[in-house]
Amino acid sequence: MTNNRAVTFMGPSKMEVRDAGYPKLTDPQGRKVEHAVILKLVTTNICGSDLHIYNGRFAAPPGMLMGHENTGEVFEVGSHVEYIKKGDICSVPFNVACGTCTNCKERHTDVCLRSNEELGYCGAYGFNLGGWQGGQAEYMLVPWADFQLLKFPDKDEALEKIRDLTLLSDILPTGFHGCTEAKVRSGSTVYIAGAGPVGRCAAASAHLLGASCIIVGDDNKPRLDLVKNAGYETVNTASETPVPDQIEKILGSRWVDSGVDCVGLECHGYGPKGTVNEEEAIINMLMDVVKPGGSMGIPGVYTDQDPGAPTELAKQGKLAWSFPKAWVKSPSLTAGQCPVMRYNRDLMMAILWDRMPYLTPLLNTEIISLDKAPEAYKVFHDGSPKKFVIDPHNMTKSVQ
Ligand SMILES: NC(=O)c1ccc[n+]([C@@H]2O[C@H](COP(=O)([O-])OP(=O)(O)OC[C@H]3O[C@@H](n4cnc5c(N)ncnc54)[C@H](O)[C@@H]3O)[C@@H](O)[C@H]2O)c1
Ligand SMILES: [Zn+2]
Ligand SMILES: [Zn+2]
Repeated sequence: MTNNRAVTFMGPSKMEVRDAGYPKLTDPQGRKVEHAVILKLVTTNICGSDLHIYNGRFAAPPGMLMGHENTGEVFEVGSHVEYIKKGDICSVPFNVACGTCTNCKERHTDVCLRSNEELGYCGAYGFNLGGWQGGQAEYMLVPWADFQLLKFPDKDEALEKIRDLTLLSDILPTGFHGCTEAKVRSGSTVYIAGAGPVGRCAAASAHLLGASCIIVGDDNKPRLDLVKNAGYETVNTASETPVPDQIEKILGSRWVDSGVDCVGLECHGYGPKGTVNEEEAIINMLMDVVKPGGSMGIPGVYTDQDPGAPTELAKQGKLAWSFPKAWVKSPSLTAGQCPVMRYNRDLMMAILWDRMPYLTPLLNTEIISLDKAPEAYKVFHDGSPKKFVIDPHNMTKSVQ
């Protein structure tokens, strides 16, 4: 029987490649799932969300297989799967979603009511949300395959464009969702907090949506350089000059129409000494720089399951928001996981029809082997401007 080498969480800062055994067609409760398939992974990316687990800031059990950004070739098919066929190459939305509950029917697949039996909503692979194992592995189980999988129309083209298509399982839809929830449209001005891969995908999405002035903030120079080279504006959050002043210098106004949080709970503070972990820093900044009547999208992750929470308040799963100050601005704010299936087909078409040529240089992907993954976690954690994409079977060698 085939083995299944997989990136395994062994504790904070400890990822190991171990054999987890070839997956069975069973759910986390051990029930047979004939609506599932087994995928042979083509690509599986490392994400900032994985870093929360790596950093011990999102509780996860040792032994859990990592990886929620998965693209694979269908290898084995359950007897109830009708449309997906062996050999199809598909993108897997990181949300596990059943397609039958009321939320799934409304395309709120981020809060499927059946995929996380412990919590009662919200399942994801490799994320301690429903017990579904991750895909930073040779093989993985995908339930509800007919509903969930986004099949690429042509296999050769899929491999040719894999550096961009691999982003469809999470961060491109997530960046796009952050922008649409922040009501970015033609001519909008937008401030995106964070120049990590999600922030860069949000900038590319704002571009696709027709935004005018796109400003990205971070204190990471190599990441800001990628943003600048793509033709967007940048602010340095570690500068002596406060962010609203830097925005005013660029735009002639201290306010933007839309704000997107692509950082989340592990943010740094502002200014030259802003290294302290202040979980509320990003949302408070957005409430400040978004115009009265403007909107905010908050894809950045927050959790009350944070063993490393830096303050008493954060330990209780609460944050010190400047909400009373912002209230009179009539703000609108949407948070939570991205419902990937709301966007992934359209963004796939945009990639296949070359409507986002700026994506590849902006994301700066590096394809690596499974064995290199533990080291890549460390390099990515240290602020690398690369987006690491694991290719467990060396199937993408034609584009490496
Ligand atoms: N909601 C979702 O569905 C979803 C999906 C994917 C990722 N995420 C989350 O999005 C966030 C970003 O993901 P990523 O992969 O880009 O992570 P990342 O860790 O690579 O990037 C975060 C960036 O934020 C910067 N940063 C820190 N403090 C800042 C501040 N005060 N102002 C501006 N920038 C600051 C960091 O320097 C870093 O470059 C994470 O919280 C991740 O978990 C959410
Ligand atoms: Zn992700
Ligand atoms: Zn559902």
